[in-house]
Amino acid sequence: MMNYNIFITCALTTFIGLAFMISSPMVVEGGVVPRRIINVMRLGAVPDGQTDASLPFQSAWASACSSLTPSTIYVPAGRFFVRSAYFQGDRCKNKAIRFVIDGTLLAPSDFRNSVWIKFEKVTGVSILGGFLDGRGTALWACKAHSGGCPAGATTLEFFDSKNIMITRLTSINSKKFHIVINACQNVNLQGITVSAPGNSPNTDGIHIESSSGVTVLNSRIATGDDCISIGPGSSNLWIQTITCGPGHGVSIGSLGWSLQEAGVQNVTVKTVTFTSTENGVRIKTWARESNGFVRGVLFQDLTMVNVQNPVIIDQNYCPGEHNCPRQMAGVSISNVRYDNIHGTSASEIGVKLDCSKEHPCSGMQMEDVNLSYENRPAHESCVNAFGATRGNCLI
Ligand SMILES: *[C@@H]1O[C@H](CO)[C@@H](O)[C@H](O)[C@H]1NC(C)=O
Ligand SMILES: *[C@@H]1O[C@H](CO)[C@@H](O)[C@H](O)[C@H]1NC(C)=O
Repeated sequence: MMNYNIFITCALTTFIGLAFMISSPMVVEGGVVPRRIINVMRLGAVPDGQTDASLPFQSAWASACSSLTPSTIYVPAGRFFVRSAYFQGDRCKNKAIRFVIDGTLLAPSDFRNSVWIKFEKVTGVSILGGFLDGRGTALWACKAHSGGCPAGATTLEFFDSKNIMITRLTSINSKKFHIVINACQNVNLQGITVSAPGNSPNTDGIHIESSSGVTVLNSRIATGDDCISIGPGSSNLWIQTITCGPGHGVSIGSLGWSLQEAGVQNVTVKTVTFTSTENGVRIKTWARESNGFVRGVLFQDLTMVNVQNPVIIDQNYCPGEHNCPRQMAGVSISNVRYDNIHGTSASEIGVKLDCSKEHPCSGMQMEDVNLSYENRPAHESCVNAFGATRGNCLI
């Protein structure tokens, strides 16, 4: 035991010494906080698109974490192959680590790993820039042509973390989800670009779950599944100035798979343009018993361009009609407001609120919702939805 401790201490001391040697001197940014710069190339990363930079990335992280000085991990321009990057913050002393990425990170093209870039239990991490290439095509082809393919890796995940900022990041062709925010608090995403083909399976743009205080601003998302998906246990979300398409829209759900499930509360989705998407704004719950809920949602200032289901609540989700013993949704939906939604529907029904018989939607509001289908007003269909009255939709 003793020897082991000594070994660790020595190794750590050597390592910290090394880290200081290879890192540039402190720089003063904005005249306030001196920052230490750790350049991954000085730790052995080679921008040839082939040499695995996983270890240099780990070393950079360990070096930043071991210090209290705000640190920048710098990834210069060029293509860096990264087999996997796992940034664990459990014992990280540093609460101000910034990644500045001028280069491209390339995922492995094979799909053995279930994780690509993951941060866990980190506080105060920011990412500025970066082009993440998930290289998903081989896995998508596998999923399209045969069964038994692995689910694939999320490109970038933050788990159990807080005070996170991601700015001007681009993610293309993820194997599975592009960006996942799970069990986090206070997360700010701005100027995100997501791009993958409209037929790439399970490539959600940004997935938020069990998290609170998440903001997504000024982002462009084109992908094969939901542009933004919101899972159970999410609250205080603000999503604004987004373009979505191709994709499946902005979706709260699927919710209500479990009997005991945390609810979704206080979500604002504002100023979004949907172009040729499957859905615009959707709330989707399983037709199963659940104590989950959705309450306090505002969908405002939305433009629909040729959208299949511009406004939809589907509480009867039960693909294949199995796993839903009573065919009734337990999740209750209340206080959802739709305000200023315009544009074109690609189907006859522009607004479809199909709520649960057992737990009808309540406190629904609709103002200035005007959708057309083939130059005529689109139809509306509401079942078990209550609130303000409007046309033949009792909402
Ligand atoms: C709702 O969420 C927003 C952030 O999106 C926050 O500013 C606001 O305080 C929250 N409202 C309540 C009642 O928690
Ligand atoms: C809906 O929009 C159409 C075309 O923009 C317009 O002619 C119509 O008056 C609008 N209807 C309502 C109720 O605002």
